[in-house]
Amino acid sequence: MAEGDPLSNEKAYYVTTPIYYVNDAPHIGHAYTTTAGDVLTRWHRQRGEKVWYLTGVDEHGTKVQRAAEAGGVTPQQWVDRLVTESWLPVLETVDAANDDFIRTTEDRHVQRVQRFWEQVRENGYVYSAPYEGPYCVGCEEFKLPGDLVEGTGEFEGQLVCPVHGKPAEELREENWFFQLSAFTDRLIEHYEAHPEAVRPQSAYNEVMAFLRGGLVDISMSRSSVDWGIPLSWDPEQVVYVWFDALLNYATATGYGSEPGSADAERYATTWPADVHLVGKDILRFHAVYWPAMLMAAGEPLPGQVFAHGWLLVGGEKMSKSKLTGIAPEQIIDHFGSDAFRYYFMRAISFGQDGSFSWEDMSARYTAELANGLGNLASRATAMVGKYRAGALPEPGPLGEQEMAVVERLAAAIPAADSAVTELDFATAIGEVRAVVELVNQYVTEVEPWVLAKDESSAQRLDTVLYTMCEALRAIAVAYNPVMPKAMASLWEQLGAESALGSLTAQRLGDAGRWGQLPAGAVITKGAALFPRLPDESPEI
Ligand code: MSP
Repeated sequence: MAEGDPLSNEKAYYVTTPIYYVNDAPHIGHAYTTTAGDVLTRWHRQRGEKVWYLTGVDEHGTKVQRAAEAGGVTPQQWVDRLVTESWLPVLETVDAANDDFIRTTEDRHVQRVQRFWEQVRENGYVYSAPYEGPYCVGCEEFKLPGDLVEGTGEFEGQLVCPVHGKPAEELREENWFFQLSAFTDRLIEHYEAHPEAVRPQSAYNEVMAFLRGGLVDISMSRSSVDWGIPLSWDPEQVVYVWFDALLNYATATGYGSEPGSADAERYATTWPADVHLVGKDILRFHAVYWPAMLMAAGEPLPGQVFAHGWLLVGGEKMSKSKLTGIAPEQIIDHFGSDAFRYYFMRAISFGQDGSFSWEDMSARYTAELANGLGNLASRATAMVGKYRAGALPEPGPLGEQEMAVVERLAAAIPAADSAVTELDFATAIGEVRAVVELVNQYVTEVEPWVLAKDESSAQRLDTVLYTMCEALRAIAVAYNPVMPKAMASLWEQLGAESALGSLTAQRLGDAGRWGQLPAGAVITKGAALFPRLPDESPEI
């Protein structure tokens, strides 16, 4: 849970993940979004900002209902079991520091969803009409004429959903409709004025093209489904699952709560969200339907929807239904959560698709973490132990080589910071990694083990040891949002906790300033930050 007084009046930097369907257990595609949101929010906390990070689960709808039926239990039993056994534990597995976790079956959500749609109806944007057309249960989506593609294999000659590769189901039911068409022009105007509101650029272009094609009204309720939130004015129907789920971002922090209550206060200091992180498959819901709903209810719009790419297996989106899902713990049991977080943020450019490969992950782990950062930390702490009895020496005058480190570090942290502002995690990590490489190269060049043999080089050795440890101090701060466990250990080994206070209290804006670790800091060589891997890689 976040530090600080969550009810102070300041607006929090508010980040969300999609809420995940609990038809099945999580795979690394889901953990990917949660990890990105966690790195982003930890980064902002490290900047000293007030932050609110929300994740959760989407429990209603046909997909979940059918999974429960197939499992021979009620939908409520099904979701209770999966949330407890799989979805909550995975947050710990990836080391997420979310501030809240919302379930759409919770009372707070159900009541506020009902209130929201009453408001939209009062505002004149809801009417009753029949729906006839295709619906993909995998996407939980009413498909538009241009959405379906020619099928292949067993579905040759039929139109199929491009994500699930199967024909959609034909629906015919009496529904309540949301007058989406009323918002086409306002949404176009909004996005023309706020091009940063949909990122990356390819996602922005897709949304604008969709909007320029004109919006048609869409069902906001379902009459042939009963696992959902009943409409307050027509309890025979439930809210269409997406129009229940999207609302989680507002209901979780207190939309529609009693004026003057703590929840209302929280809503006032979180809403609008700053960033909704979503996979590219659910962009339209977030960048078109969601802001239209908010406009219809008279609520402010979120700052940004960022659509990231997919983790692919054999060129296709990893998915449980296609039996290509890899459970996060299969990777994390072997590499640890820090390496998982590092790898996915570093190896795949956020916004692009990427493939996970065991070989690539092992290679980067060994080169960049075990031999790179891990080795630098163990060399620095071991040498201070061996040559200076574990007390950080006072440095002598800095030479050219040290100045190169000082300057690179001073430039790297602001560069990483502005990359994170753009959600470009790979560049941010690359900036810090370049410092690690530079310091490792520096150590190879100055050969402290040679200096240690010559008494007349004592001051020079002091400077080298100080440079290594002080660079590691700054690296620990900058990498803390990415690898919080290993950096906490490094902080401890540098004796920084007692010299400078807690790692989370360090500010990114100040991290590149040289000379913070005081001489005399007690340096200890602890366990390897990134232990060498056992040879065998597990079957996945
Ligand atoms: N329940 C809806 C979201 C509602 S948000 C108001 C949903 N759930 S989901 O479980 O199917 O997907 C949740 C997120 O996981 C989406 O952003 C989706 O893109 C992401 N991923 C699912 N598989 C993925 C990959 N293989 N790779 C990357 N992300 C993937 O949609």
